Amino acid sequence: VPSALLVVDTTGHIIFFSKDSPTLPDPIILPNDGNNNNDKALALSDCTVHRLAPASPSQPPTRFLIPGFVDTHNHAPQWAQRGLGQGLHILDWLERITFPNEARFADPAYARRIYTACVAGFLRQGITTASYYGSAHGPATAVLADICVQQGQRALVGKCNMDRNAPDYYRDASAEESLATTEQCIAHIRALDPNGELVQPVLTPRFAITCTPALLQGLGDIAAREPHMAVQTHFNEAKQEMDATRALFPHFGGSEAALYSHYGLLTPRTILAHCCFMDERELDAVGTAGCGVAHCPISNMTVGGGFMAAPVRQFLHRGWQKVGLGTDSGGGFSSSMLDAMRQALVAGHAREVMTEGKDKGLRLEEVFYMATLGGARVCSLGDKVGCFEVGKEFDACVVESGWNREQQVMAMVEEEDSLATVFEKFIMTGDDRNIRRVFVRGRQVK
Ligand code: GUN
Ligand code: FE
Repeated sequence: VPSALLVVDTTGHIIFFSKDSPTLPDPIILPNDGNNNNDKALALSDCTVHRLAPASPSQPPTRFLIPGFVDTHNHAPQWAQRGLGQGLHILDWLERITFPNEARFADPAYARRIYTACVAGFLRQGITTASYYGSAHGPATAVLADICVQQGQRALVGKCNMDRNAPDYYRDASAEESLATTEQCIAHIRALDPNGELVQPVLTPRFAITCTPALLQGLGDIAAREPHMAVQTHFNEAKQEMDATRALFPHFGGSEAALYSHYGLLTPRTILAHCCFMDERELDAVGTAGCGVAHCPISNMTVGGGFMAAPVRQFLHRGWQKVGLGTDSGGGFSSSMLDAMRQALVAGHAREVMTEGKDKGLRLEEVFYMATLGGARVCSLGDKVGCFEVGKEFDACVVESGWNREQQVMAMVEEEDSLATVFEKFIMTGDDRNIRRVFVRGRQVK
């Protein structure tokens, strides 16, 4: 007997992505329970999906349920700087815009104010799981984890490691200090959420340029000691970054995969942001290591990133399931996963043109997969969330495509529209006004 029932009223459809087609899921219509009983779309036992109703055709929905979005890559301390410094190359953007901004998080009170707004802003947009880079500060990063738990967001939270090539006013004093602060943050998060129900730590070497070999090695040692520990970094993002990395680490033949692998940081729980420039060697190494990819199509084509459309089709073509989307806010100007999905489609078209048709563009269901189940897999949460499946925890958004004026930013739903059409209208033209309610682990957080 389920201990709770989720009420999804009106026509009560939910969109459910079948687990039988893991990389290319098709939407399946699931009405409430086939008995005109509109209060049993999905039975929950505590936070877990207990039962799913069988599919049958019905009216076009004005309200439906989708899995919560997973933002696989973003920077919480950049919440207030989103979109600033458009067109700057990565190292210039870090120096001029980002480091001065992130340095402000030395003040935990400032961190609390910005992180409270950041986590609430993410939840409002239906991001039920986020993989966060914090600033380099331990106390501020602990505050970020606290706020995720308070507001009920599922998250990976990492203290950003950087002990060189950053200004004196914003840098870990040494590798030892950076590692010690990291251990303190891990301990804080473990004490806060002992079973990792919502929040887990993630090792976060910002990228090789800001880390000494000793720091990378120390982080790799933690990863080796703790097989469940997630890792995240920026990877083959931009020419400027790759050239600087090669100059600092000349022994790896220009391969960032070889570099991070050498330090034990290329693991099945590693999230590689960007992956814009991937030759066969890098593709083979990342595929063999089983890392996840956080595709960040907005920042890649606007600021900091590679000004490049990443080869996502090649990742999918290789059968990689761990491919997700990142808003990369604030390098990305938007923290909306709907915007990230749309820009992924744009980047996919750009990639098709630049490869003269070799890398086919992405489809709507592919970018939706990346925004949900793919992202969950990237964060090693694919057995917990990402789609509606019996036994998974209930992270979801109630979407309304309705008729009132506030919601009409979204392309108008018409009588004859199928669920697939309404869904496409929402993804392409909706915004957070259409995301009426948000649930994480069965708790309503919006
Ligand atoms: N590489 C190192 N740090 C950053 C960052 O904050 N944003 C992006 N996009 N790339 C980075
Ligand atoms: Fe980033």
